Amino acid sequence: MSNVTAKTKICIIIGDPIEHSLSPLMHNAAYQSLGIDDKFVFLAAQVKVENIEKVVNAMRVMGVRGLTCTIPHKVAVMKYLDEIDPIAEKIGAVNTVVNENGNLKGYNTDWLGVVTPLEKIGKPLKNMKVALLGAGGAARAMAYGVTQKGAHLTIYNRTLLKSQELATEVNAECKNLANMDLTDTDVIMNSTSVGMGDKENLTLVPKEQLHRDQIVFDAVYNPYETRLLKEAKGQGANIIHGMDMLLYQGIAQFELYTGFTAPEEVMRQTLLQHFQVLK
Ligand code: ATR
Repeated sequence: MSNVTAKTKICIIIGDPIEHSLSPLMHNAAYQSLGIDDKFVFLAAQVKVENIEKVVNAMRVMGVRGLTCTIPHKVAVMKYLDEIDPIAEKIGAVNTVVNENGNLKGYNTDWLGVVTPLEKIGKPLKNMKVALLGAGGAARAMAYGVTQKGAHLTIYNRTLLKSQELATEVNAECKNLANMDLTDTDVIMNSTSVGMGDKENLTLVPKEQLHRDQIVFDAVYNPYETRLLKEAKGQGANIIHGMDMLLYQGIAQFELYTGFTAPEEVMRQTLLQHFQVLK
């Protein structure tokens, strides 16, 4: 039986499309495990980007506690908020809006989804040589996260102009994908869509460039383990799944919405079960 009552606070993710989102699953499982599923419920709604102002107004008048923004709302939402956290301002995107008694404050937790699993491996990012493949939406949190921690970043993108823009913002180098050699790189991060959908059997990194002293991080979470990650694992590298990025941005967001410490293992197992990779 549901524990939702008239006192339950609403958190909601908006996006277009939205049906694939795993946030409701992950957050509701966490509420349930802490016994706070009478206090919070996490929903989802498909919203067109031109309706974002109406959603923010509805959040105010309905007292919605949390608004999670995914594509295409992360930039568009910003101008309707009362306050923006300085890190979100710098990244130029908000994925988390907290309603504190009518004051709407925007945060970005995507970069923590990048930095937290990298730091858990135990090697400080400071002065590490990091390569980022891609320069689209997902690349921004990755680029910001590692440069913020003092890594030396090189961005490789098919379209050089896009990587040049991002590189200027985060003070990184940029190079063309065509003649890439990552043998000398400590951390490789893929933010491109290569490895998923109709590109599931593809990878941008030749296996010969992967080795055991590297960390390889793929933002792609479907499939759970991409060809890049399988090959990196085969070569003895440390790997970080795209699911971890989803998990750790969600953990930071959970704590902003509820004020409780997130039940990390419950959230991880919920996502793993979804991918049917039970540990
Ligand atoms: P997202 O917001 O999910 O990052 P995006 O903004 O469309 O999606 O970015 C997709 C990234 O994948 C881009 O860096 C894109 O390269 P371009 O900037 O050259 O378009 C990259 N990408 C997609 N398909 C690719 C392919 N077949 N080879 C190399 N890069 C590819």
